[in-house]
Amino acid sequence: MTEVAKLEQQLLEFEQAASKSLAEAKTQGEIESSRQEFLGQKGILTNILRSLPQLSKEDRPRLGQFANTVKQKIELLYLERKKTLDGQELEEKLKTEKIDITLPGRGKKLGHLHPLTQILTEIENIFLTMGFTPVEGPEVETEYYNFDALNFPPDHPSRDEQDTFYTNLGSNIVLRCHTSSVQARAMEKFKPPLRVTCAGRVYRNEEINARKYPVFHQVEGLLIDRNVGFGQLKGTLNEFIRLLFGKPLKTRFRPDFFPFTEPSAELDSECPFCDGAGCRTCGNKGWLELLGCGMVDPNVLKAVNIDPEEWNGFAFGMGVERLAMLKYGITDIRHFYNNDMRFLEQF
Ligand code: PHE
Repeated sequence: MTEVAKLEQQLLEFEQAASKSLAEAKTQGEIESSRQEFLGQKGILTNILRSLPQLSKEDRPRLGQFANTVKQKIELLYLERKKTLDGQELEEKLKTEKIDITLPGRGKKLGHLHPLTQILTEIENIFLTMGFTPVEGPEVETEYYNFDALNFPPDHPSRDEQDTFYTNLGSNIVLRCHTSSVQARAMEKFKPPLRVTCAGRVYRNEEINARKYPVFHQVEGLLIDRNVGFGQLKGTLNEFIRLLFGKPLKTRFRPDFFPFTEPSAELDSECPFCDGAGCRTCGNKGWLELLGCGMVDPNVLKAVNIDPEEWNGFAFGMGVERLAMLKYGITDIRHFYNNDMRFLEQF
């Protein structure tokens, strides 16, 4: 046997050994070490290739070519074996880490606005369509804006500590007891003609029960212009009630008294739940008391240096909790402040 034939024989045996070793490799690690053994720097093939220069000129290319074919074959075997193993591993992984994509998702719970915020925004938006701009005022207020500028006489009973919360921030600093406190502020800020609403919290020193809570919300409206008549006040509020309850309702304006409006009225609407026939919501009266209103008293205009000979207007104020209770049939005002999810989730 010639030297070349011996080497060729060696190469063939080598190829068989490599093929066997690769076929038996069961893990990526085993394949990798088999590859190192046969094709690596210290592998047998490298040794054979290194001995090439010792061969005769004629034999060298033949054996070189042969060795290369063997090398390529093993390389190919290696790649195929690796591919099969990758596939098997993926299949195994898919079996054990099965994901049922048809299962319903867990879903994110989206919160929503508090029912009071919802109805408050709804009320503001209704008046916005009639040209009333929402403005804000402070909840901690001076007695001046809460009472004096609104024509409350110094001895008016609602100034009493039993009705109004006084603070220790200095004499005459109160928690506003109505949003009417924003009237004078708005007139100072925006010269007439003006149309504003003010929504927000108000405070009254009151015992808690199903109908009363020491903090609640009001929406105030104020319009100042030339030659404003009571008919415009009526039209504005009738339209408001139609939009709030979703249908036109009969209304009546009962004479009332507020220091800052003259004449003043309490607005009742026909009960939207029984159409005036009488039900639990309206206490069998067929009517709902909705809000206070009236023509702005000239003294209020004078307090902010607006000439009552040139300008006049109307104002109205409503309790948001009360309207929400009527609209949604809620029987206890405390629900709004207990933060019970079972209640809040209904809105
Ligand atoms: N401020 C009054 C109240 O709290 C409501 C009101 C506002 C009445 C505006 C007339 C005009 O009861």
